[in-house]
Amino acid sequence: FVFPLCLLFLPAVCGQLNYYFYRNTCPDLERIVFNAVISAVMNETRMAASLLRLHFHDCFVNGCDGSVLLDDTDSMIGEKTAAPNHNSARGFEVIDAIKTAVENSCKAIVSCADILTLAARDSVHLSGGPYWPVSLGRRDGKTANKNAANTNLPAPFESLDSIINKFQAVGLSVQDVVVLSRAHTIGAAHCNTFKSSLFNFKGTSSPDQTIEPSLLGNLQTLCPENNNDPNTLASLDPMTQDRFDNAYFKNLQNNEGVLQSDQTLFSTPNASTVPYVNFYNNYPYAFFMDFHISMIKLANLSVLTRSDGEIRKNCRFVN
Ligand code: HEM
Ligand SMILES: *[C@@H]1O[C@H](CO)[C@@H](O)[C@H](O)[C@H]1NC(C)=O
Ligand SMILES: *[C@@H]1O[C@H](CO)[C@@H](O)[C@H](O)[C@H]1NC(C)=O
Ligand SMILES: *[C@@H]1O[C@H](CO)[C@@H](O)[C@H](O)[C@H]1NC(C)=O
Repeated sequence: FVFPLCLLFLPAVCGQLNYYFYRNTCPDLERIVFNAVISAVMNETRMAASLLRLHFHDCFVNGCDGSVLLDDTDSMIGEKTAAPNHNSARGFEVIDAIKTAVENSCKAIVSCADILTLAARDSVHLSGGPYWPVSLGRRDGKTANKNAANTNLPAPFESLDSIINKFQAVGLSVQDVVVLSRAHTIGAAHCNTFKSSLFNFKGTSSPDQTIEPSLLGNLQTLCPENNNDPNTLASLDPMTQDRFDNAYFKNLQNNEGVLQSDQTLFSTPNASTVPYVNFYNNYPYAFFMDFHISMIKLANLSVLTRSDGEIRKNCRFVN
């Protein structure tokens, strides 16, 4: 059954994502979001990384439904206190600011899930990465799922098999794991996400000997064994933390991956990920096209359309 109005190409009633969803109802949407992302990134370069990560953490839990944006309330615990997000996921104020700018032009029309998807795309582009058209028409979920955030999102100490399983559980491939992991060419990580590799690797009292020695020394200086400043950050891509460049794959080949989950893509013997790391290192332009494809798959995970969701007034609360 095709809803008859769909034949007239009225996307708002047709129940799937498309590029022209807000063409009549919010024609300036993409410009409004882009300008707001520019302001946020000009204020703080790292915000590009934070917005990209937020989109990933949204889509892996209940699909791309804005669930990660919800605050805790008396009746519902959100995802912000789940382990992968707690003291780590950030950029919520920026999403609020974009939402306000969008509401000022088009009231109660655009979902928070779409805003987050566009902001992630714009963040990559502003950091020097690829640009791709984004399909729109997602609706916002009416609930969050803290348990799923704890279970579905990969952890930095997880085995490669387990990370691959988590991607495959949502329909993404080994290739998507490698391609999307290159998001770690921008942004930063707290000491506690990699510190055990520096001093007590796998329960021993020595570091992971495979880490490139000067990187190991730098990280040990930044994150001393007995100083637990919880706010210290290390660049995920030490030389070019703000550039969405190909250094990430080169780093892995040099044993300079900061997170164990990054290095394991290249260092796990005979792993299915290794050929992809080598391929994208040799063919950076192929990477641009494939990142575009993987990001579209990510942004399409279990989306809500039409009456399945709502257009939140405030991204932090269900209506
Ligand atoms: C493959 C499994 C992945 C693991 C285990 C992982 C884990 C992590 C960890 C532990 C951090 C540091 C968080 C902190 O210390 O606050 C981080 C940061 C980041 N992740 Fe991932 N991640 C993965 C995949 C992804 C994917 C698929 C994306 C996006 C497409 C992504 C984007 C980012 C970005 C941009 C940052 C930096 C955020 C910032 O500076 O605010 N990650 N990730
Ligand atoms: C600018 O970034 C700083 C952190 O670097 C943050 O504290 C501040 O709130 C941001 N200002 C705006 C207007 O976003
Ligand atoms: C990797 O593959 C090689 C060649 O096929 C094989 O000899 C070796 O045992 C494999 N190593 C592991 C850890 O599976
Ligand atoms: C998005 O997901 C829907 C259903 O889950 C699927 O039919 C469609 O082909 C997907 N689109 C893309 C571009 O992956």
